[in-house]
Amino acid sequence: MVGTGYVGLVVGACLAEAGNDVIGADLDEAKIAELRANRIPIYEPGLEPLVVRNQHDGRLQFTTDVGGAIERSDIVFIAVGTPPDEDGSADLRHVLAVARAIGEHMNCPKIVITKSTVPVGTAARVRAEIARHTQLPFHVCSNPEFLKEGAAVEDFMKPDRVVIGVDSPDAAQVLEELYAPFVRTGNPLLFMDVPSAEMTKYAANAMLATRISFMNQIARLCEAVGADVTLVRKGIGTDRRIGPAFLFPGPGYGGSCFPKDVKALIRSGQEQGVPLDVLTAVEAANERQKRLLFEKLQRHFDGRLRGASVAVWGLAFKAETDDVRDSPALALVEQLLDAGAQVRVHDPAAHATARRTLGDRVTYAAHAYDALQGAHALAIATEWLEYRNPDFERIKRLLARPLIVDGRNLYDPQRLARLGFTYDSIGRPPGCASS
Ligand SMILES: NC(=O)c1ccc[n+]([C@@H]2O[C@H](COP(=O)([O-])OP(=O)(O)OC[C@H]3O[C@@H](n4cnc5c(N)ncnc54)[C@H](O)[C@@H]3O)[C@@H](O)[C@H]2O)c1
Repeated sequence: MVGTGYVGLVVGACLAEAGNDVIGADLDEAKIAELRANRIPIYEPGLEPLVVRNQHDGRLQFTTDVGGAIERSDIVFIAVGTPPDEDGSADLRHVLAVARAIGEHMNCPKIVITKSTVPVGTAARVRAEIARHTQLPFHVCSNPEFLKEGAAVEDFMKPDRVVIGVDSPDAAQVLEELYAPFVRTGNPLLFMDVPSAEMTKYAANAMLATRISFMNQIARLCEAVGADVTLVRKGIGTDRRIGPAFLFPGPGYGGSCFPKDVKALIRSGQEQGVPLDVLTAVEAANERQKRLLFEKLQRHFDGRLRGASVAVWGLAFKAETDDVRDSPALALVEQLLDAGAQVRVHDPAAHATARRTLGDRVTYAAHAYDALQGAHALAIATEWLEYRNPDFERIKRLLARPLIVDGRNLYDPQRLARLGFTYDSIGRPPGCASS
């Protein structure tokens, strides 16, 4: 498993749990040292016991010797990052560097699998790069990953489906064996050609991002016309053609996947002369949405945020992860700092990752309530469970002004009104009955 980040580490640990011998190889020496000492460099529920147990039992090893790991493996997964390049396309530098290492260290026939999210055509480039360095036969397959951070172990262990693009029946057979333990309840292994597998991952993320932006815009309109988006969500989510998932409005999508994958797909479309107008609009709507909480706060402060103190609950791009890449919470904090506000932040897991961007420009509160001390408003950016049922009396005592701007619609507007809060959420009229 080359790359031991959010994807490689989870997939490697789960494959080891199923009885395979797995070597996690990464260039990041600090990360590998942590992993060897059974310290998990990311917050991901359920991951630690898997890593500890399988490392103890000898099925899971970690190394910085990528070449050596390749030599000792029959199957090589490429699970390195594919960040956006300047033009929005996926930067394949890391993927191709691994392909080159594979070619250079090819000592027997191997199956190479791209796990990273990569545009159509990448497997062909990986194949060409490997072939430049070896005469030995090998397969290149595409096996995009659909796990969600925060539920990654569960998602990998019990996938809705596994998408596998293969270049031959032999490779298909090996992958079928590898995945058999995870699909015993009958969820499908979907074998297809390699380009279709590569496209499937982008299409899935783009569809989910589209649902989010769609609902965010419907929520804005609900707010403007006096409708309640919670009821509208239920009203449409019960339609089986639509379904209930991914219909919650929020402060905009973020994280390490949706923003970059939407960008990369738009770019692919441009390169092929196929304009993806829907996705261009999805992206624009999301950029606008990432300003919504700030604009609401600005309105409550009559545009005078300078010198005000604002508490922000949540820094991670969603609950149950420490990942702050492209987090709308960080965007909000930056907007508040730009406006001259002082910002007091709390997140149950993401202080260390957020500190890399925010540094000492904000106050980090060890406890959620500590963030509120003397603040003129509370903004909620991430839907962590511990924020869902807080002690409202305590919040009111601590805040200098009883104002809550809620980007996750966690509370009942009527109740908050009764408790004497000014409560501003997304797509719901103040004092409406939904929660
Ligand atoms: N994070 C997610 O939820 C998720 C879900 C599905 C798919 N993906 C995709 O999976 C890929 C990996 O994402 P991630 O979030 O795990 O990234 P990450 O940044 O957490 O991890 C990538 C790892 O690869 C290592 N690396 C980079 N170049 C290397 C090289 N040449 N040799 C060895 N190691 C190298 C880095 O040191 C890092 O540890 C991306 O393409 C991403 O789009 C991510």
